[in-house]
Parts: sequence; structure tokens; C-alpha cells
Amino acid sequence: MKHLRPIASKESDGVSAPGMARVPRHVAIIMDGNGRWAARRGLPRVAGHRAGAEAVRTTVRAAAEAGVEVLTLYAFSSENWRRSAEEVSDLTGLMRFYLDRELAGLEKEGVRLELIGEPEGFGPDLAARLLAAVERTRGNNKITLVMALNYGSRGELAASARRLAEKVLAGEIAPGSIDESAIDAELQTARWPELDLLIRTSGEMRLSNFLLWQAAYSELIFLETLWPDFDAAAFGDTLAQYSQRQRRFGGR
Ligand code: IPE
Ligand code: IPE
Ligand code: MG
Repeated sequence: MKHLRPIASKESDGVSAPGMARVPRHVAIIMDGNGRWAARRGLPRVAGHRAGAEAVRTTVRAAAEAGVEVLTLYAFSSENWRRSAEEVSDLTGLMRFYLDRELAGLEKEGVRLELIGEPEGFGPDLAARLLAAVERTRGNNKITLVMALNYGSRGELAASARRLAEKVLAGEIAPGSIDESAIDAELQTARWPELDLLIRTSGEMRLSNFLLWQAAYSELIFLETLWPDFDAAAFGDTLAQYSQRQRRFGGR
């Protein structure tokens, strides 16, 4: 049997010095609960999204300070187009606003911005701004912030299969050579370490089409906290929980 362990460069957090908490190299968060946060306050949903954007900033900083290498945040799913035109436009408007407002701060704090999903879906203007921000932060190395925008895991896997089929047709690879690492290499997350920890806020216990392949051996933490209430202390708690987990990867 091959591929019993992740390939070396993608290895999970590993074991730190005795007495030191294990820090996950790659953390992903399904930032859920903005709408309910707003509803509980009698506010429109957009107020929840605005408050949620503030929680993003706090969390990025906390993750960088903790030594997390990659933080992947689910901001808009490929299914979120099912929401009202008004809410979609509120969400894209906020993306534009925060991108402009936060870019200098990301630069200053050494945050490298990356994207997964299909940001072209938001139209050429916003997509171009997003790609420009990725370009501008390319040299930063304190933490990589991956924003999942118009992202869906099944779509990502289908695209991966499509590219492999094209390579077979072009005679570049043989069908028999398509193994786990070949599929993994076609995913948008290929260049980052294995996903160590996946967090979802708001009490929902599902993955909602997020990182299905990548989460095969991730530790999962589901919190009742609504996303706008998530803060550095809450993030610290999840890291503490993570460091108590015993990861086995099928071994004993
Ligand atoms: C998460 O909050 C943000 C996005 C999905 C864009 P929701 O908007 O899903 O909030 P709830 O789940 O309705 O409370
Ligand atoms: C998942 O939340 C997507 C994001 C957080 C961006 P949803 O609120 O869209 O998920 P469901 O619909 O409750 O599964
Ligand atoms: Mg939701």
C-alpha cells in the first residue's frame, strides 16, 4: 500500500518539544452565524456580515501570533448564490469595502493573501481587485490567509478530475498513474500543508461543501459561538483543544 502518510512537504503539525503545545500548521474555519447574530439584535443580516468581517481581522491576527502557517476562511460558498440578490450584493459590497480598507494592514502585518474558489464569479471588477491584492501581498510570510470565495469542494474535485482527464488525452500521463497524490496536486490547496484543524461556528454540524477531501484526517471542532462573537480568546480555546487531541491517522 502506498500513500499511508501525507507527502513530506505537506506533513501535519508533528510533535513539538516536550511540554510545548502542538500548534496546527493549517487551520480552516467555516465562519457561520452572521445572520442569526443580527437577528438576535433585531438588525438586518448585513449588520451580521459587517460584524463578521471584524471577527476575521481579529482571528487572522490571533492565528499569526499563535504561529499558524495557513488560515483558510470560508467566506462565500458556491451555494450561497441561492440567497437573495440583495444579500449577495451586500456580501460582495462588503468584500470590496474590506479589501480596500484592510489591504494596507495585511501588508503591514506580513499577511499573504491567497484565494480558492472561483472569484471570477463576482464579476471582473471585484475579481481583478482580489487578484491585485494577492499579487501585492505575495512577498509576505508571517501567515498565509486563504479566502475561500465562491468555493465548493465538489466543484474543486470535479475540476481536478477534468484536468487529469485532459492530461491523459494529451498523452502526458497514463490513467493508471492517477493516484491520491495526483488528485491532491490538482486541488487549489495543493501548495499548502495538510489541513490539521477545521472549526465551524454557530452550532451547525456539517461541512457545507468545504474542503471535503482535505478534511479526511483533520480534527473537527464545532462551536455554539456565532461567528461575529468569535475572538482571540475563542481561537486560543480551539488551539488548546486541538493540542489535547490524539491524532492517529489510522495507526494506533
Ligand atoms: C455566514 O453567516 C456567512 C456566509 C455564509 C456568507 P450566515 O449568513 O450563514 O448566517 P446564518 O447561518 O444565517 O446565521
Ligand atoms: C457555509 O455556511 C458557507 C460559509 C460560511 C461561507 P452556510 O450558512 O452557507 O451553510 P448552510 O447553508 O447552513 O449549510
Ligand atoms: Mg449560515
